[in-house]
Amino acid sequence: MQLKLSLLLLFLLSVNSIYTLSKCQCTVDNSTFPGSINTPPTSLAFSPDNEIAGSTNVGKLIAVGSIQILQQIFQVQKQSSGQLNHNCPSGYIPLTKDDFTAIIGRSDINSLVGSTYLNLDFKKNAYYSSTKVNATATKGDDNEAYVYFTLSLNKNNTIVIDNSNTYWETKIKSTVCKRNLQQFSISLNGYEGFDLEKGKSYQMQITNKNVQQYYIYDNNGNKFTTQTFTYTHNGDFQWGCATLNFKLQLFGGLIVGDCLAIWTNNQIAFNADSSSFNMNSIKTTVLQGVKANENNGFFFGPGSAPIAPIIGDSSSFYVYYSIITSDQLMVQKVSSTGTPIGSPIDTKQVGKPFDIVSTQFGFVVMAADSTQRAFIQAINKDGSQRWFRILVNNGDKPDSPKDQIEFFQNDKCELSDGMTCMYEPENGRLNYARGKIQAIWAHYNHFGFEKDGGRNDHTGDTMISLDADTGYNQNIFWSWQTSHSLYQNMHYDGKNLYIASLGDAYPMNINFSVCNIDTYQCISNDKVVQGDIPGNGLGLAAGRTGGFFSLIGNRNQKLFVYQRKASKGGYEGVNSESSINELAVVKFDSQLKYASTTTLLSGDIASRVNCIKSVPFGKNILLAYTVIPASEVDNYNRQNSESKDDQAYIALLSGIDGSFLVKPTQLPSFQISQSDDWRILENGSIAYTYVDKESNLNIYYTPALTIPNYPNPITTSDSIYGFGSFINLQVNVEKNNYNDKCVKQGDSNWSIVDFETNKPKNSSNSNNPINQNNSNNSTNTNNSNNSTNSNNSKNSTNPTNSNNYNNSTNTNNSYNSTNSNNSTNPSNTNNPCVLKSSQDCIQISFASTISHLSIFSLLAILLQ
Ligand SMILES: *[C@@H]1O[C@H](CO)[C@@H](O)[C@H](O)[C@H]1NC(C)=O
Ligand SMILES: *[C@@H]1O[C@H](CO)[C@@H](O)[C@H](O)[C@H]1NC(C)=O
Ligand SMILES: *[C@@H]1O[C@H](CO)[C@@H](O)[C@H](O)[C@H]1NC(C)=O
Ligand SMILES: *[C@@H]1O[C@H](CO)[C@@H](O)[C@H](O)[C@H]1NC(C)=O
Ligand SMILES: *[C@@H]1O[C@H](CO)[C@@H](O)[C@H](O)[C@H]1NC(C)=O
Ligand SMILES: *[C@@H]1O[C@H](CO)[C@@H](O)[C@H](O)[C@H]1NC(C)=O
Ligand SMILES: *[C@@H]1O[C@H](CO)[C@@H](O)[C@H](O)[C@H]1NC(C)=O
Ligand SMILES: *[C@@H]1O[C@H](CO)[C@@H](O)[C@H](O)[C@H]1NC(C)=O
Ligand SMILES: *[C@@H]1O[C@H](CO)[C@@H](O)[C@H](O)[C@H]1NC(C)=O
Ligand SMILES: *[C@@H]1O[C@H](CO)[C@@H](O)[C@H](O)[C@H]1NC(C)=O
Ligand SMILES: *[C@@H]1O[C@H](CO)[C@@H](O)[C@H](O)[C@H]1NC(C)=O
Repeated sequence: MQLKLSLLLLFLLSVNSIYTLSKCQCTVDNSTFPGSINTPPTSLAFSPDNEIAGSTNVGKLIAVGSIQILQQIFQVQKQSSGQLNHNCPSGYIPLTKDDFTAIIGRSDINSLVGSTYLNLDFKKNAYYSSTKVNATATKGDDNEAYVYFTLSLNKNNTIVIDNSNTYWETKIKSTVCKRNLQQFSISLNGYEGFDLEKGKSYQMQITNKNVQQYYIYDNNGNKFTTQTFTYTHNGDFQWGCATLNFKLQLFGGLIVGDCLAIWTNNQIAFNADSSSFNMNSIKTTVLQGVKANENNGFFFGPGSAPIAPIIGDSSSFYVYYSIITSDQLMVQKVSSTGTPIGSPIDTKQVGKPFDIVSTQFGFVVMAADSTQRAFIQAINKDGSQRWFRILVNNGDKPDSPKDQIEFFQNDKCELSDGMTCMYEPENGRLNYARGKIQAIWAHYNHFGFEKDGGRNDHTGDTMISLDADTGYNQNIFWSWQTSHSLYQNMHYDGKNLYIASLGDAYPMNINFSVCNIDTYQCISNDKVVQGDIPGNGLGLAAGRTGGFFSLIGNRNQKLFVYQRKASKGGYEGVNSESSINELAVVKFDSQLKYASTTTLLSGDIASRVNCIKSVPFGKNILLAYTVIPASEVDNYNRQNSESKDDQAYIALLSGIDGSFLVKPTQLPSFQISQSDDWRILENGSIAYTYVDKESNLNIYYTPALTIPNYPNPITTSDSIYGFGSFINLQVNVEKNNYNDKCVKQGDSNWSIVDFETNKPKNSSNSNNPINQNNSNNSTNTNNSNNSTNSNNSKNSTNPTNSNNYNNSTNTNNSYNSTNSNNSTNPSNTNNPCVLKSSQDCIQISFASTISHLSIFSLLAILLQ
């Protein structure tokens, strides 16, 4: 009977996972496998191996029918009105009352409690089950809340089920733990939770103890029946994920399952040797037929021409720019030698680009226009719009929000701090990983009015996640951090997302974060760079940021390039002073713990370094920077680049510690601007953009690198390519948007209409936990944001989601309710930037920025 119950639980688990109709769905397979014996032993039996829970040896298991219990007895630690589950080691839970019933029903019960097996001492101990006598009594002040069923010896020396109150019990409170089949986790050697490279083979080994038979298969139909097996990663074409299903027959005859979704890491000539790089091999060309808006400012301003390497296309990239005469935002596919491929795609939006990332379906862009409207837009390869999300569209200096993306901090539907009334989006960056878009952007928020009537407005940054396929399923990493977040960097290492924001007040340093993109949890450290980078709280800082780099052969160490200069700064009574001039590389670990600093330049020359670009180049780092004339050195770094005065240098750094491999060489023929972009292409060449004063979009590129041969298969012990061990623990996604409570379907401010949250969680799907929010019913309600469609508020059948494989949901949704609202499609005709030069817009924007940056007291409270 117990066997049936356990299997039933396993089946329920599988049924739940069917609700997650999304990419990289990972379903635990509940079928048995050929030749398995799933009848439990008739008499009590010890497992051959000791069990390991986490890293602790928790002793042998005893098979009591279909229940596997640990021989060790665990103490019930707390007087508990909640659950007793925390008393067992991970992967184990206390016996329930039903388990007690099954055990007492056995003829060998006395032998089980005797000295050979459990050695229970009923005089000294009270043995609790996890079942409450009154299941609904949970309140801490309710005596009944502490009463649980226990296994006891009655006056006739018969083992019975009794009950006891953990609050008043005087005996030692104990429990017997059993294997938790609902949370069975596969434990693997040869995979560390990092995305894998397509086509590469990895030797893996299951390390769970007490396994009698193995049955493993992947989504390409490969099967393995041994503890050690060779898995070749082949992510799904559209979404880049693959699944591995595990079925294990355990000691005691039980069959358990687990499922792992593994995402694909794009190959970027990882570990290619770049040490023979010749500076003079950098080539340049002007992108024909393009006159783009230039931005030579550093902060509080968008980019000029961000680029995105194309996934699965070794040598081409997208460049995102706005046409100088119209501000029309365009995307051009470009070969690695700077030749346009096909005609540019008109995104049907105007404004200034923030960033672009490529996805399997096309690309995703983020931009803002001069009406202070910012958005994220997904476009298919054929140029059709896939989805469109407004981030901010509240106009200039709003007192109340009109249209913006919304996140709620509680079930009272209060908007998140610092996102109650956003305006003036300044800059931002995108990342695409695991089927999701991560976006950080800096913006103002209006917090209300001061007593004297002045506005209480400040700048910080916000970071969110959207499903790349649909633009829905929004989650938030944080809502208001790092003033003023002058510049943001992002780096995904195949597992975690690293973010750096340059602050000028809170903190006067670079604020580093490392985030789990599946749980949206981050840790941060604004003291990785030792000492201060003074700022003035008004947009000026005595430092600059370069970029991140992952160490080859040590996945847990990162490098980051930065500059700072001697400066006296401070804001609102917080003084900050630094006497250090340096261009340096700081090393830290995946928990953002500082390791070391390599100083590249110091003294006068370092104080003049202004714009820094650094990108991985094979196993090393390509560094470029500008040096301003000595006469222009000031207390803070200069806020713009000057192509006539600034000198550009390029160097190669060691990927191990960031030291110089090839000393800086001046490149007289070109410039570097903070607003332009440097990226590594899949074949290892680096492409970068520079929009010059004549509005030419210059493309620079290095030669490609030779991709090294990988071992086949890659074994765990390989010091460079090998992976460590991994336990597929269920990740806990804390609710962080309350949209199921706070957003009605059809609301023009819709976020995700999440009808599925109350369904049981799918514990099998731990690599893709967001799927529980992504119900098929809720994802396709809104096709309204066809930007070209502003006059056509009636016709709702615009099938922008034609590639959406959630086909069944596209037919009968309530398009009407959302499409009648055209507030998300403001007309572009009154854009004051159109037909003016880009400089005007940026300067206007910058001036107003400064004037808003006046009162900081609330921010200080918020950030303290
Ligand atoms: C597995 O679960 C499905 C429902 O998801 C059910 O229809 C099927 O019968 C189960 N298989 C077995 C062997 O019980
Ligand atoms: C169980 O506890 C609840 C909450 O304290 C109480 O309302 C209810 O009457 C209790 N039921 C029984 C059968 O005692
Ligand atoms: C103990 O055993 C006697 C005789 O078998 C029986 O009458 C009595 O009910 C038992 N008491 C308990 C508490 O089970
Ligand atoms: C937007 O709607 C217009 C008019 O219905 C249509 O011609 C156009 O293709 C749509 N654009 C996109 C990107 O779907
Ligand atoms: C740095 O960013 C993190 C977000 O990861 C935030 O929690 C923290 O408060 C920020 N630090 C400051 C000083 O703003
Ligand atoms: C890699 O990039 C270079 C540009 O440096 C290009 O010429 C070459 O064709 C690319 N290689 C492949 C295999 O695409
Ligand atoms: C789909 O959404 C509607 C609300 O529009 C709701 O009534 C219905 O129950 C949902 N269906 C599913 C399967 O969630
Ligand atoms: C909507 O578009 C369809 C074709 O796409 C057309 O047949 C229909 O007349 C249009 N309806 C309205 C109200 O514009
Ligand atoms: C889309 O749905 C229709 C109707 O349900 C079906 O006939 C068609 O095969 C589906 N297409 C895909 C690609 O699933
Ligand atoms: C959509 O709107 C049209 C006209 O505006 C109306 O005739 C139709 O019934 C509406 N459909 C739904 C599903 O509300
Ligand atoms: C759509 O926008 C136009 C122009 O801004 C406005 O007049 C109209 O009322 C809007 N329609 C709806 C349904 O919001």
